[in-house]
Amino acid sequence: MNNLFPTTDILQRVAKEKLLGQKAFCIWFTGLSGSGKTTIAIALEKELHLKGILTQVLDGDNIRAGINNNLGFSEPDRLENIRRIAEITKLFVNCGVITICCFVSPTEEIRTIAKSIIGEDDFVEVFVNTPLAVCEQRDVKGLYAKARKGEIKDFTGISSPF
Ligand code: ADX
Repeated sequence: MNNLFPTTDILQRVAKEKLLGQKAFCIWFTGLSGSGKTTIAIALEKELHLKGILTQVLDGDNIRAGINNNLGFSEPDRLENIRRIAEITKLFVNCGVITICCFVSPTEEIRTIAKSIIGEDDFVEVFVNTPLAVCEQRDVKGLYAKARKGEIKDFTGISSPF
C-alpha cells in the first residue's frame, strides 16, 4: 500500500483526484434569476468536458425539482435550500468532481454558509452581474411579469432583496 491508500482510512479525495487527473473545487455562480448563470455553466461544462475534465452542474432545475422540492422562497427556505446544496456539493468535491453551482443565493449570509460548508479553499464565487432591467426584459420563464403582478411573492429583485 502506498500513502494514497492508507489501510485504516476510507479512500481519500486525493486518490480520486489522481484517478481523474484533476483537482476538484466548486465554482459558485450567484446572480438574479435570468442573469445567465446556468447558460454560462453549461457552456463551461462543455468546454471542460472536451478537455477531459469531469464536472457536475447543480442548478434550480435539478435541485429544486428533486431533493429540495419541499422548499419555497422565504428566507428560511432559501437558507435550507443552499445548506443542502452546499452539503451535496461537498460530496461531489470530495469525489474529485469539479462542481458548478448556479443559484440566486441572494445574500452574503447565504453565500457565507455555502462557503463555510464547502470549505473556503474549494469555493470560487462568481457574480453574474446582469442588471435587473436586462433579466426582466428577457424574462425567459415569465416569472418577472408574474412577480410584478403580485402573482409570485418574495421574488428576487422585485419583492425580495439581492
Ligand atoms: S435561491 O434564492 O434559493 O438561491 P434558487 O437559485 O434555488 O434560489 O432558485 C431560483 C429560481 O427559482 C429562479 O431562477 C426562478 O426560476 C425560480 N423562482 C421561482 N420563484 C422564485 C422567487 N420567488 N424568487 C426567486 N426565484 C424564483
